[in-house]
Amino acid sequence: MKKQMLMVPGPTPVPPEVLQAMGKQMINHRGAAFGELFSEVNHLIKKVFQTENHVLIFPGAGTGAMEAAVVNLTEPGERVLLATIGAFGDRFGDILEGHGVIVERVEAEWGMAIDPQAVKEKLENNREIKKLFITHNETSTGVTNDLKAVKDAIPDDVLMIVDAVSGLGGIDLKMDEWGIDVVVTGSQKALMIPPGLAFIALNDRAWKVVEENKAPKYYWDFKLARKFLEKNPPETPYTPAVSLLYALQASLRLIIEEGLENVFARHELMAKAIRAGVKALGLKMLAEDDVASHTVTAVYSPEGIDVGKLRKLMREKYGITLAGGQKKLEGKIFRIGHLGYVDWPDVVTVLAGLELALKELGYPVEFGTAIKAAQEILFAGR
Ligand SMILES: Cc1ncc(COP(=O)(O)O)c(C=O)c1O
Repeated sequence: MKKQMLMVPGPTPVPPEVLQAMGKQMINHRGAAFGELFSEVNHLIKKVFQTENHVLIFPGAGTGAMEAAVVNLTEPGERVLLATIGAFGDRFGDILEGHGVIVERVEAEWGMAIDPQAVKEKLENNREIKKLFITHNETSTGVTNDLKAVKDAIPDDVLMIVDAVSGLGGIDLKMDEWGIDVVVTGSQKALMIPPGLAFIALNDRAWKVVEENKAPKYYWDFKLARKFLEKNPPETPYTPAVSLLYALQASLRLIIEEGLENVFARHELMAKAIRAGVKALGLKMLAEDDVASHTVTAVYSPEGIDVGKLRKLMREKYGITLAGGQKKLEGKIFRIGHLGYVDWPDVVTVLAGLELALKELGYPVEFGTAIKAAQEILFAGR
């Protein structure tokens, strides 16, 4: 037997209460029991989105939620702005172009956050553009964009559509307070449930655009989803992923019980402890501290150490699965996911495993170095 630990930025480990909730028998999704379940879930998910708006829930991956936003908010031939800082920002661009939308871009070097002023200038120089697509937390680089600063910088009539797949529920995102128009996410990250649910929240401005939108759609029709959501009790147009909704009910109760602010603080503390530990070993981080994500940390493999070998050793000998680099960062970095059901024992274990694996691959390590640095942060932060 080998004890396994999943430290990738999604799917993330699922708390026992949530796993258990998924074992419940099926119910009629047009009956009273489903109505109760769906009412509670809809009520609680709004708290995590920090919004009074409806949050639509579809069976689907995070990419499905992104595409759903595109087909409900844009039309072929329209020009939009994409702010991209990595692989998932680029994916938003691919989806948009796949639907015939013309994409203007503002980019940042991978490992950096978007410059709000650059976004502002681009929009001011292209006043016909009325939609900005942007990533909250770029999972491929471990960088979080300052959405509030971007929102405050851009012209007021530009709709801001945010991919918060690896951020929401782990990093603060005040949808209503900051005036973010659309937020999409998926289930398998900080929400602590398995993959398979796609979430989209829209404010009144965004709903107006949806109502006027003429692009072809069927399954992802937001207007139809809202119509069913507004039934008493609420329903979905098509068969919902009942087991995942039971899981979501359990996970949302855990999140609300801990308190959203405490959940964010825990993510921040774990991220800081991991960074301190990795840095103490002399490894180079991809992102600077001020833009570093609280949910995923990207680290360069040390000179002469093959990142594939390091991840293989971590996985096969020490039972810890880490993520690799994506696209142009493949073979250069590894990524540690620390979101959702994560706490200090995970931090200490992953750092201990890293010390063992690096030493075995010939990198000079004094055992305990990373752990000590992390403990200093954990001790100060608790
Ligand atoms: C920021 C971001 N956007 C979108 C996605 C896509 O989600 P999915 O793999 O569920 O389609 C991911 C997945 O890692 C992500 O991290």
